[in-house]
Amino acid sequence: MEKMKLKLLYSDLRPELEMIEKELEQAVDSQSLLLNDASLHLLQAGGKRIRPVFVLLAGKFGNYNIDVMKRVAVPLELIHMASLVHDDVIDDSEIRRGQPTVKAQWNNSVAMYTGDFILARALEQITEIESPRVHEILSKTLIEVCRGEIIQIKDKYKLDQNLRDYFRRIKRKTALLISSSCELGALVSGTDEKTAAHLRRFGYFIGMSFQIIDDILDFTSTDEELGKPAGSDFIQGNITLPILCARKDPEIYTMLKANLNRDLSNEERLTVVRTIRNSSAIEEAKAMSERYLEKALRELSFLPKGQAVKTMRKIAFFIGKRNF
Ligand code: IPE
Ligand code: IPE
Ligand code: MG
Ligand code: MG
Repeated sequence: MEKMKLKLLYSDLRPELEMIEKELEQAVDSQSLLLNDASLHLLQAGGKRIRPVFVLLAGKFGNYNIDVMKRVAVPLELIHMASLVHDDVIDDSEIRRGQPTVKAQWNNSVAMYTGDFILARALEQITEIESPRVHEILSKTLIEVCRGEIIQIKDKYKLDQNLRDYFRRIKRKTALLISSSCELGALVSGTDEKTAAHLRRFGYFIGMSFQIIDDILDFTSTDEELGKPAGSDFIQGNITLPILCARKDPEIYTMLKANLNRDLSNEERLTVVRTIRNSSAIEEAKAMSERYLEKALRELSFLPKGQAVKTMRKIAFFIGKRNF
């Protein structure tokens, strides 16, 4: 149902996105059967393709040539995919996009090489864009994503961390890649600097909102909707915004403290999820996501009106309302 809505949102871009899908399939093709299978496994499990969509939409503000745009859109999705394959090793996750993760279907070593392989394919494609600036933005973004994931490991199980620690983490691990998708889409289509800067900031704010919603959904959605067990973040020791809001209640704080960093039965997991879901933390976290969403919409108001802005606005609203 929700997935249908997303398809509808992307309908203006349908032919281009079909082309991107084919390119993605070709990109993960390799001489090694194992790398092929593992990469295709994740690719065919689906995903929202939000990063390539933003690359294409940003390109609509300049001289849009799909043959150039795809050389950026494809790598951005590949980089995202590579980070997911690695992330599932770090988080020891069994399921993603409703399918066994690469590390679960094969093993950690296969997952590490699959992630590296997909990343290398991304770099191979981006070299066709002969612009040091594009390469620099992309490399710097990748460095920040790695830093974000490392900070997340360091901050694990720390119930007493600041909100600032959380925002610093999600900026790096999620928002900057979405921000760069928008910025690079703008740059390779030759928009002026001001337009590129608005698009970059739009991507950043949307990215922050997107990750906050993702962290809320971990408590408010069902296992089926998520394509993985609800409460996974908490079980993995990842202290997200709903937890940081909920811990202000001394009773909930004690419950969280008692359940962090130990094996929970299914029943116990669902109890933690229910406690957070029924607390005021969800509304509080949603309000923070809304604030980022509003900032994102404000950036759009500075851009030339047209179909691209309309679609971006719709995607922004979808992000606020999505349940997967
Ligand atoms: C998942 O990203 C990881 C986050 C940064 C929240 P997406 O929600 O974009 O994942 P897919 O590509 O749709 O599976
Ligand atoms: C997303 O992190 C992975 C990256 C942004 C590198 P999470 O661990 O929060 O995302 P999910 O929940 O596994 O998709
Ligand atoms: Mg994870
Ligand atoms: Mg993670």
